Amino acid sequence: MIKQAIIPLAGLGTRLLPLTSVFAKELLPINGKAGIEYILDECIEAGIKEVIFIISQKKIMIKKYFYNDKFYKDIIKRKNDLRILNEYKKILKYKKMIKFVFQDKPLGTGDAVLKTKNIIKDDFFLMLLPDDLIVKKNCSKTMIAIHKKFNSSVMASMKVDKKEVSRWGIYDIKKKINNENFIIKSVVEKPSVKQAPSRNAVIGRYILPKTIFSKLSKLKPGKGGEIHITDAIQLLIDDNDKFIGHNFSGKYLDCGTMNGYINSTLEIAKI
Ligand code: G1P
Repeated sequence: MIKQAIIPLAGLGTRLLPLTSVFAKELLPINGKAGIEYILDECIEAGIKEVIFIISQKKIMIKKYFYNDKFYKDIIKRKNDLRILNEYKKILKYKKMIKFVFQDKPLGTGDAVLKTKNIIKDDFFLMLLPDDLIVKKNCSKTMIAIHKKFNSSVMASMKVDKKEVSRWGIYDIKKKINNENFIIKSVVEKPSVKQAPSRNAVIGRYILPKTIFSKLSKLKPGKGGEIHITDAIQLLIDDNDKFIGHNFSGKYLDCGTMNGYINSTLEIAKI
């Protein structure tokens, strides 16, 4: 069973400036609810018991959001408002399952993952990138079922336009399992249109093996001077590890860019 999930949250959020100059993008409201809560709800529904937040001192606001007990207790005493009481109960439920680790230099997603090395207990764990919301169908839950069936690592994916490949990790297919699942031959971080082996983009849900930590600790910075999870995954594939690309069926909402962020509220309001 996959019981632990990790969420890298130390990113600077430059694609959402100026909002992110003073605010953690993961707390920005999407249809009236903090973005991170959608991700937590996905984890809970997928059977995850512990979620590890990788934050930085600059993003300490995220910890405060879940550790504001005195504020809630005072206001509940004064106001006796059922709505506030229920909101506080919800925050307490999240807080119980969250652990915090720190990544104070933004050295990339791979470096963020490495910070959780001593906390991960089982052979596999889930990672969710909070910029990527997937609604209407629980992608993590489906991926956990695929992992169980094939005893392999899994990455969420979708086909993107050729001109957009350089925004994503792109993988090449070794073998088709069925219409939604593919054994991955290779994966490359943000290739140029010319270099891209396909249009299969990796989206921010991963089921990763614990063995990735030893690969990450040996990695040198890659594209843009950052340590990429994609490069560590390629090293595991080189060792004949099985990675499945899963074309998810939920609706994808890109909350990491301003247009995508605005659109995500409009889309969720329709559900
Ligand atoms: C990260 C990964 C990339 C993946 C993307 C999905 O990129 O490095 O391989 O395709 O997430 O959202 P980032 O969005 O952090 O630039």
